[in-house]
Amino acid sequence: MTFRYQNDNLFCDGTDLATIASSVGTPCYVYSADAILEAWRAYDAAFGDLSHLVCYAVKANSNLAILKLLAEAGSGFDIVSGGELFRVLKAGGDPKKIVFSGVGKTEGEIELALQSGIGTFNCESEGELAVIDAVAGRLGLTAEFSLRVNPDVNADTHPYISTGLRDHKFGIDITDAPAIYGRARAFQNLRAAGVSCHIGSQILDYSPILEAADKVLTLIENLQKDGHAIRHIDLGGGLGIAYKDGDDAPSIATFIADLRGRVERAGLTITIEPGRSIVGNAGALLTKVLYLKQSPSKHFVVIDAAMNDLIRPALYKAHHNIRPLKTTGGSLVADVVGPVCETGDFLARDRELPAVKPGDLLAVESAGAYGFVQASNYNSRPRPAEVLVEGETWRVVRARETWEDLIRGE
Ligand code: LLP
Repeated sequence: MTFRYQNDNLFCDGTDLATIASSVGTPCYVYSADAILEAWRAYDAAFGDLSHLVCYAVKANSNLAILKLLAEAGSGFDIVSGGELFRVLKAGGDPKKIVFSGVGKTEGEIELALQSGIGTFNCESEGELAVIDAVAGRLGLTAEFSLRVNPDVNADTHPYISTGLRDHKFGIDITDAPAIYGRARAFQNLRAAGVSCHIGSQILDYSPILEAADKVLTLIENLQKDGHAIRHIDLGGGLGIAYKDGDDAPSIATFIADLRGRVERAGLTITIEPGRSIVGNAGALLTKVLYLKQSPSKHFVVIDAAMNDLIRPALYKAHHNIRPLKTTGGSLVADVVGPVCETGDFLARDRELPAVKPGDLLAVESAGAYGFVQASNYNSRPRPAEVLVEGETWRVVRARETWEDLIRGE
């Protein structure tokens, strides 16, 4: 357990979180370097000697210190924008281990990616293939691509983060793929190297991913019969994580073992793009109780973090455990709400908590993935600081924004 009590005080690995909160202030994100590396290595090790690439999905948490940690461990990266590419290169990531996903790559982003020598474009439309071909031709380069296919498999997850159904904007219908690979032969500056797919995020029952893998493997066999030199399969994001006590997250080792069996037979290199399962449970958002309030029907705990800092509860009704930094007795059922002027600004609803009081510090857990990266300045709130814990030491890896930062460029 990364976040656990030692003598009534909540620690992240060897560091007392209260020390961080009092020195950095709240709200503030805290991440465990050990937990991040352990999760990344669990993927890497589970593939064993099968040719593979674990490409961390930068969108989950793009802090430079985290990217650097992963780059040094040998990670590849899954990017979806020129900005993410810029970050990965700054962090020392190996361009050859980058896959570039996303439905709306601009010509400028494609050019930067080609000039940087990235590994593969995961292409999502025929129009995009034409643009990559044209830019590559202009630069005198050849681009390797995979088509992202949509296998029409239903991942049982929140509708906003399910991506593998026919009516989603992502990918190319799997039944159209052979014809498109065929037509893509006409592009002089492209080389078809793989097939990719990603059916959704926060997947706890991974059988739909296996179903998608089987469909993609069949497609690859047919493409190879048609003479396409397909060498790799990219199966998109990683596993979901346990947010609630009682959530049953499968082990990374079991998940990969199930994929391995299928892909080994086909003699392909496998790429996987996990984000949430690398950083999600490695991070927490520290916050302070400002006020307790009571309406005729409800208790409210008003804290100094809000939907602008962590939007997941408001956007997906996501559950994040909330625990005090110092254990306390009693209990209270309350909505935990922030200062933002929206009824949707809550981090928990009707939640049973220990009896907290103003001034108490809380940890909103499992906030390492899609937390800070989705933070905004709504209500002119500076975005929080970020801290990386490395065993018993810790450091600020992103300073809290200032009011001057709020008006930069205006
Ligand atoms: N690859 C692609 C092409 C993706 O679209 C995603 C996530 C991933 C990999 C990483 O998936 P993961 O291993 O993290 O499940 N903001 C939402 C999650 C959006 C996920 C978008 N795509 C949330 O807070 O739950």
